[in-house]
Amino acid sequence: MTHPLDLATLPASGGAVSRWRDRLLAVLEGWYASPTLYRWSIATPITRWVTQRRTQQLFDLMSGFVHTQVVLGCVRLNLFKMLHQAPANLQQIAQRVQMPEPALQRLLLSAVALKLLEFRGEFRFGLGPLGVPLATHDGIAAMIEHNHLLYEDMNDPVGFLHDAWQGAMASYWPYAHDAKAEQHAAAEKFSRYSDLMAASQGFVVQEILSTYAFEPHQSVLDVGSGKGRFACDLAEHAPHLKIQLFDLPPVLSLAQGNVSQRGMQARISFSPGSFLHDELPAGADLITLVRVAHDHPDGVVKPLLQKIYNALPPGGTFLLAEPMAQSFSPGSAAGAQADAYFHFYLLAMGAGRLRAPEELMQMMQAVGFKQIQRLSNAMPIHAQLILGRKV
Ligand SMILES: C[S@@+](CC[C@H](N)C(=O)[O-])C[C@H]1O[C@@H](n2cnc3c(N)ncnc32)[C@H](O)[C@@H]1O
Repeated sequence: MTHPLDLATLPASGGAVSRWRDRLLAVLEGWYASPTLYRWSIATPITRWVTQRRTQQLFDLMSGFVHTQVVLGCVRLNLFKMLHQAPANLQQIAQRVQMPEPALQRLLLSAVALKLLEFRGEFRFGLGPLGVPLATHDGIAAMIEHNHLLYEDMNDPVGFLHDAWQGAMASYWPYAHDAKAEQHAAAEKFSRYSDLMAASQGFVVQEILSTYAFEPHQSVLDVGSGKGRFACDLAEHAPHLKIQLFDLPPVLSLAQGNVSQRGMQARISFSPGSFLHDELPAGADLITLVRVAHDHPDGVVKPLLQKIYNALPPGGTFLLAEPMAQSFSPGSAAGAQADAYFHFYLLAMGAGRLRAPEELMQMMQAVGFKQIQRLSNAMPIHAQLILGRKV
């Protein structure tokens, strides 16, 4: 790796070494590795489920690539939308997607095994519980197609770690490697990622709007706003608010079209600029930063947080929302496996990283924010939320 990358601060890992714990774990590891114990554990009903669960988890890790490709294959053949309209049998589907039945049947049966599809009687296939969101949320299908770039980059994972930025993902995100991308990169690159962000932002916006009460505020500045999907949804959600968007000039040109299309031009204004080179406009009593900090290294995030602090009036509020690490503390949340995806996605993209909430809170504190708190939200896998005040 020729480029400097930040190291994460691990909140829970700095505790004292416990020799007793190490010894105990060494004994347990010995047990887990013992073929005799394995035979005993699967022969004993009380312990069998533990071994079965571990084996299943390991098998899932090994076969994850196939799962991903099954989903991608179904997306590319438009199966989810097709079967959302009406269940169909193998012959009907094969005719529509122009594929030999025996090969297609393997895809369909795999999709059933993964709960993407399910059997519906008379040999028909319909949507399974995990297929429904894929038929109804275009943003998920768009991300599945987009992730293909990442998985191509990671084809050789060790080579990728040595040189992560040679692939398609790094060139997909123009600002991740060029501090003046707005002057150098083609307009098409900005519209490509901005469309993807707008398509995939729905769940994040829902987390924010259902978690934070915007009533006390008058004026909001959304930094790194993209095409303004959050701003438009917020304008509908809280009709008293005035909203300002800050993003790179090529992105705000796209946002203007989107905001007009949604009929929000009287409520939403635009401040094109780069937070690397420009100050942020003052006047808003709430500044939001949604899925932006994790794109950038600490050397960018710290000055950005300082600019946000400076742009707020005394009493002003800052709301940060993005996916954050869930696996840094012991007994971590159920969605913690998502961390692995974000660690690699953000590395392939550039020098940003997945940060733990505690680390972001420390960074906010360092620039002057007070009363910093995490807001508890229903779906942390989409985003976690942190609030800070300038007193
Ligand atoms: C990952 S996207 C998130 C967009 C939107 N907030 C969302 O959640 O969909 C990051 C946004 O930050 C913007 N951005 C990146 N570098 C920037 C800079 N130096 N100044 C202003 N905006 C920037 C990008 O153009 C992009 O719209």
